[in-house]
Amino acid sequence: MRPKRALLATATLAVAGALTVGMTLAMAPSASAGTTLRAAAAEKGRYFGAAVATGKLSTSTYTTILNREFNSIVAENEMKWDATEPQQGRFSYTGGDRIVSHAQANGMSVRGHALLWHQQEPGWAQGMSGSALRSAMINHVTQVATHFRGKIYAWDVVNEAFADGGSGGRRDSNLQRTGNDWIEAAFRAARAADPGAKLCYNDYNTDGVNAKSTGVYNMVRDFKSRGVPIDCVGFQSHLGTTIPGDYQANLKRFADLGVEVQITELDVMTGGNQANIFGTVTRSCMAIPQCAGITVWGVRDCDSWRGSDNALLFDCNGNKKPAYDSVLNALNAGPGNPTTTPPNPTTTPPNPTTTPPNPTTPPPGGAGCSASVSLNSWTGGFVATVKVTAGSSGTRGWTVSVTLPGGTSVTGTWSATASGNSGTVRFTNVDYNGALGAGQSTEFGFQGTGSAAGVTPTCTAS
Ligand code: G3I
Repeated sequence: MRPKRALLATATLAVAGALTVGMTLAMAPSASAGTTLRAAAAEKGRYFGAAVATGKLSTSTYTTILNREFNSIVAENEMKWDATEPQQGRFSYTGGDRIVSHAQANGMSVRGHALLWHQQEPGWAQGMSGSALRSAMINHVTQVATHFRGKIYAWDVVNEAFADGGSGGRRDSNLQRTGNDWIEAAFRAARAADPGAKLCYNDYNTDGVNAKSTGVYNMVRDFKSRGVPIDCVGFQSHLGTTIPGDYQANLKRFADLGVEVQITELDVMTGGNQANIFGTVTRSCMAIPQCAGITVWGVRDCDSWRGSDNALLFDCNGNKKPAYDSVLNALNAGPGNPTTTPPNPTTTPPNPTTTPPNPTTPPPGGAGCSASVSLNSWTGGFVATVKVTAGSSGTRGWTVSVTLPGGTSVTGTWSATASGNSGTVRFTNVDYNGALGAGQSTEFGFQGTGSAAGVTPTCTAS
């Protein structure tokens, strides 16, 4: 878990603005004011969300507040890498699916958190490095984003990849050591897997203009200039007893880059300023048309990872705190007509912008195996997802051959081993996906530079 000193670092960023927040007036709600956080936010085209632990969904005090006040949820832990892929290639979606079902049943949108993060990596990934880890990372992004395709409003594709302190650079981690392009590779894989989800970079101690947030800013500007698919930046906003005076200006400079901004994990240390700081954060979001919404990191004080900080909007008995009124008033006082599209929790899954599968012979039902490819392409690159289907005899193993056009190279492969990276490349099963029963399917994928348009995979069973 992140050390408390990170929070203290946030506190040290405070400037004179902290003095002004105490003077901010709560505006009287208008006649049409929302009487809950979700109604007030929705009236202004925003969402108001909470981090949820599935273990608490059977606690009625908790669920009553959750359903009444929030129209967006995020899994506090259930969609993280250790939860969703506890063993390599074996995926577990029970907790994440439960969050999604709860959202769908209660008119909420879902933020996905988090596809790649150096913390809460499963044990098997912690011991990996180099190209094996890169493949595993990209496979994880692809599989998880595909599983939840059409159900997630915004994914935290990469979480907390920048270092604290004054360097403005990346944090060291085994993910970072696979190469500086790991973040853009992850965003491209996520876009290919779920073209309808907004793709966010999410971090803490980026809640004002400082070296770390400027490092993130420079990355986002670079991504936008090169067409790397990034749509949003998440500002966690785990705050101490003060708030940086340039909190809103910082949001605005990111919004000016052409990305949506979201407050993703808001909680504030208890004390005299708590209600004012919650209000300031809410007003700052409302003042930025591209600020899509706010998520608080838990429901009641005793649900919070911050323990005795009492950092949330409801006390442990479920009573509204002064901070609640401060947020509600700020939502009701905020301008409407943001440029963001409010998340629609009930949309049907969007059609991915993949090319139609291109099956090869023999068709399922014959002997051997067949393969089909779905491509997601952009200028200069692509992600290919290949479906392998066993024929009537099943397979003990399989090899899929693909002949790539000149100038096209494979840069990463997941759930298969590649014989090379250009020309005719043979992809062979890995240990856990070679044995397929009659008619059974598995998927592997590869990512590359250049174009793979029109490639025709051929499958051979062993
Ligand atoms: O589920 C196990 C349980 O079986 C076991 O007995 C127990 C023993 O320690 O651990 C339980 O797992 C804990 C898990 O929360 C669920 O409660 C982990 O140890 C604990 O590390 C984990 O903490 C989470 C933390 O991320 C992990 O770093 C917090 O709940 C969660 O609020 C926190 O959230 C993060 C965001 O994802 C990213 N930004 C910072 C934020 C706060 O640290």
